[in-house]
Amino acid sequence: MASTPASDYKLSFGLWTVGWTAQDQFGSASRPEFEPWEYLPKLKEAGASGVTFHDDDVAPFGTDDSAREKYFTRFKEVADEVGLKVEMVTTNTFSHPVFKDGGLTSNDRSVRRFGLRKLLRNVDRAAEFGAETFVMWGGREGAEYDGSKDLFAAHERYAEGVDTIASYIKDKGYDLRIALEPKPNEPRGDIFLPTIGHALGFIAKLEHGDIVGLNPETGHEQMAGLNFTHGIAQALWAGKLFHIDLNGQRSIKYDQDLVFGHGELASAFFTIDLLVNGFPGGGPSYDGWLHFDYKPSRTDYVQGIWDSAKANVEMVTMLADKAKAFRADPEVQAALKASGVYELGESTLAAGESLTDFLADTSTYESFDVDKAAERDYGFVNLNQLAMKHLIG
Ligand code: GCO
Ligand code: MN
Ligand code: MN
Ligand code: MN
Repeated sequence: MASTPASDYKLSFGLWTVGWTAQDQFGSASRPEFEPWEYLPKLKEAGASGVTFHDDDVAPFGTDDSAREKYFTRFKEVADEVGLKVEMVTTNTFSHPVFKDGGLTSNDRSVRRFGLRKLLRNVDRAAEFGAETFVMWGGREGAEYDGSKDLFAAHERYAEGVDTIASYIKDKGYDLRIALEPKPNEPRGDIFLPTIGHALGFIAKLEHGDIVGLNPETGHEQMAGLNFTHGIAQALWAGKLFHIDLNGQRSIKYDQDLVFGHGELASAFFTIDLLVNGFPGGGPSYDGWLHFDYKPSRTDYVQGIWDSAKANVEMVTMLADKAKAFRADPEVQAALKASGVYELGESTLAAGESLTDFLADTSTYESFDVDKAAERDYGFVNLNQLAMKHLIG
């Protein structure tokens, strides 16, 4: 495989992405499985500089302690050898049937206590491997039947679980932040914390919410019909965009996990525009990892794993080049100006203006020419067309 030039960006992949052997609800695996460390050299070749995993991706669930350490030692050795940083670690609290009603929100307290132990054990691993982020995707936290849960208690237990993990991180002095990953459904009929907005509201109620943020995924917001770029923008605004899962999804349907940009291309362009260029008028920007959480298609065999990994890297790199050229284009700058994009950065009340001053200013209301203001041509279509010309022109 021709190797992709070392990227300017911090790109990483979940081990479970390239490692997916493509078993699904309707059929068995369509690809062979390799040892966890066997994926690493090829990930590096594809253009990654980081790798992430669930505990059970490296050492299968139930592996005894000494065999378990061997798996992790070997994995870390090879990661170091090929130059892949373990930037994020996450925990599988969804595959084993013990978690069928959730890990932190199962109705069964003994399961919740087991889930919490599994999570805390993996926090130690994350710290040991120098990860920056501990992702928590609560795939089984949810329900199919509204009467099956005390929904108040479920949120209490979820918050208790996340706060316990966050306080453990602080007590141990680990340099680690938690990133919650929202998803609306799959595998549960309805998952708790279904969207970025729900998760932000949840974090605001936590005792240790200062080290808890988000790991939003492109496809997850799109499965709910939501605008991913708007979602990560709000997370940035809130200071909570700790990590990101990039992939592709076409409309409201099952979780497709396509290559990034192979779903909604125009949306992917503006996602990358925000991530690499920031907001037009400044403000918080993202300098974290661009992490791919996709699946090589079931119709592809082993070569397809590496073709699709490389496709993710190429999509981000190409879109970033285009997004940079878009912002640097004088015609685009003029269009942004004409559209009032920079005007939105100005506060609505003037600096030092009191509410009394504002109410006394007759130009704002009494003599305001609403008809004239209504005639403003914002030129948004022109601006968008310039973006499309940069994208596909
Ligand atoms: C999914 C999720 C997972 C999580 C992963 C990390 O839809 O299956 O996106 O891939 O990202 O479990 O916690
Ligand atoms: Mn997903
Ligand atoms: Mn998925
Ligand atoms: Mn994900």
